[in-house]
Amino acid sequence: MESESALYKAWLQYSELRDGDLRRVYAEWFGRVYLEADPGTGPGQRSAVLETAVRELRHGAGKMLGVDPVVLIGEPDEGPCLVIRRRRGTGTGETASRPWEKGEGAFSVSLRPSGSGRRLELSADSDRGVLYGVFHLLRGIAMERTPEALETEASPVNRLRMINQWDNADGSIERGYAGKSIFYRDGNIVRDVARIRDYARLLASVGINAISINNVNVHEQETRFIAEEGLPDVARVAAVFREYGIALFLSINFASPLAIGGLNTADPLDAGVRNWWTETARRIYRHIPDFGGFVVKADSEHRPGPFAYGRDHADGANMLAEALEPYGGLVIWRCFVYNCMQDWRDRSTDRARAAYDHFKPLDGRFRDNVLMQIKNGPMDFQVREPVSPLFGAMRQTNQVIEFQITQEYTGQQRHLCYLIPQWKQVLDFETHAVPDGGEVKRIVEGSGFGMKYSGVAAVSNTGDDACWTGHPLAQANLYGYGRLTWDPDLSAEEIAQEWVGQTFGNDREVAETVTRMLMSSWPIYESYTAPLGVGWMVVPHTHYGPDVDGYEYSRWGTYHFADRDGIGVDRTVATGTGYTAQYFSPNRDIYESPGTCPDELLLFFHHVPYGHRLRSGKTVIQHIYDTHFEGAEAAEDLRGKWTSLEGKVDSERYALVAERLAEQAEHARHWRDVINTYFYRKSGVPDERGRRIY
Ligand code: GCU
Repeated sequence: MESESALYKAWLQYSELRDGDLRRVYAEWFGRVYLEADPGTGPGQRSAVLETAVRELRHGAGKMLGVDPVVLIGEPDEGPCLVIRRRRGTGTGETASRPWEKGEGAFSVSLRPSGSGRRLELSADSDRGVLYGVFHLLRGIAMERTPEALETEASPVNRLRMINQWDNADGSIERGYAGKSIFYRDGNIVRDVARIRDYARLLASVGINAISINNVNVHEQETRFIAEEGLPDVARVAAVFREYGIALFLSINFASPLAIGGLNTADPLDAGVRNWWTETARRIYRHIPDFGGFVVKADSEHRPGPFAYGRDHADGANMLAEALEPYGGLVIWRCFVYNCMQDWRDRSTDRARAAYDHFKPLDGRFRDNVLMQIKNGPMDFQVREPVSPLFGAMRQTNQVIEFQITQEYTGQQRHLCYLIPQWKQVLDFETHAVPDGGEVKRIVEGSGFGMKYSGVAAVSNTGDDACWTGHPLAQANLYGYGRLTWDPDLSAEEIAQEWVGQTFGNDREVAETVTRMLMSSWPIYESYTAPLGVGWMVVPHTHYGPDVDGYEYSRWGTYHFADRDGIGVDRTVATGTGYTAQYFSPNRDIYESPGTCPDELLLFFHHVPYGHRLRSGKTVIQHIYDTHFEGAEAAEDLRGKWTSLEGKVDSERYALVAERLAEQAEHARHWRDVINTYFYRKSGVPDERGRRIY
């Protein structure tokens, strides 16, 4: 561990357990560990992952229980101990099992009679399973759970559980709010990988099994990562993640054959280009035998792609997939493709339609090892959007959902916004793509249409900040992302409780207060920012703070159309852009009519007068006033709640959170006044309750 500060240790505090029966029982078990070797593997040949598991076990047991486990040579006949069984190893090099293989990572924990007492048994099919099992046990101990509560049959629901770093080689992070990159400095990969190792550890502790280490916008220096001169450094980072069972991916530049290959085209159907990618794959796998694959942003926001050659995205993705296929690599192709040069006067183009319009027609044309990465909503990680209609629309295409942990549009880690409830709503959304079980979570887990690969990816919120995430409470989003991805049926509250318990200890008042703060934070943030699903209204480019018309006359396709009479975007089939038709029935009918459209999405789908009555009974304008007054008050209240914990939380973390909550309360008032004033001036309708509007 690079640092012993509580901020740095995040949820892996491993504080010493209180004296008592629980500690005594666990100390007995963890004092003696028998690790069953898999057939044909001697003790000196343990895989890196298994070594990590043993190291983590020792570390956790030492810190929490004060024991240094004795590793037994043979299985004891009796007496308390921890027995770890595994049926097969993870393998090394080209034979290594891929983290996203079916069943990889599963484990079980049970209590078994042993002489007159009991022993704890952890069994797993694979080394990764052992590692996840060890983290499960340590989590349970940290939360002071009873041994019975640790018994489980656990298996990750999503096979690909990925993190996307948006880090650049110059050390900056696109949309990063937690300092500089831990991966790069001044154009190079860092020499000292200690912090990367600590990051891998945090990620593995919540089940993450894949990471792409550079920004989806691939600039000149990162384009060279796949060249001979770049690969040794990338391989050093891959080795660190390998220890934690995590596969390394790179974002690539589609125009690499031009940029670094000396070719005069990147046309995916050109034989020379195809050959260049085949050679490139060979080169990569020589350095990194278990390389995960490529993440690709193409023909999006000025990134190069197949369109330049009159080819489509299936042509582009398949070319890369063919090159990676012999090595078991994946191509993760992003669906964030839209016209970012729209004329705001053009009312026929609707950015929300773009992903579906581009990709749905390509369904069935992608190779087996291509996965489409689809943002959770049709626009861009707003505080509220409907679910992307692409989920379920492609029946023969592997699909990965993309979330954004980094809080680009949700307060930039200066505001508290616990995002797990938002993601849960998305995952639980019933697409009606299949008669039973068409929820988004079933589609991305692969059971929806029996897809070969699938899973979840998310943009990281970390950097070299002392607490990793800028706002100490934003760690909960990283933690929660991993846990939710492992098991989408965990509740947002359970996840919050787990995180709080491990991070702040098991004091009841602290646990309850912080959990309540987290659980209320997304609705609070939503209430004082853009209303009723309309989105945006932020300062262009930085995306922090209110600017209602900031994007209104821009080329980004993100408009609200407010005038003196009303607001919202008509996306209906009857009179609007026809976007609602991209959903399966009955969703399309529900969204089509303002009478059935959920209030929180009304302005996303409809343009309505300010006097329109919501299902809640309020008018749109009064809803805007009320939520903004209430939201700013609630932000102030969050501050009060935290103040009540002074002295119960260590002073460093207390002060940092207090400072951010003060900024949030102030900024929420600013949001309130800008939004309310804007709408009062546009509409001329006064607040029913006569509160102060400027
Ligand atoms: C958003 C974000 C960009 C990012 C893009 C993407 O538009 O603001 O910084 O590059 O999403 O997801 O590719």
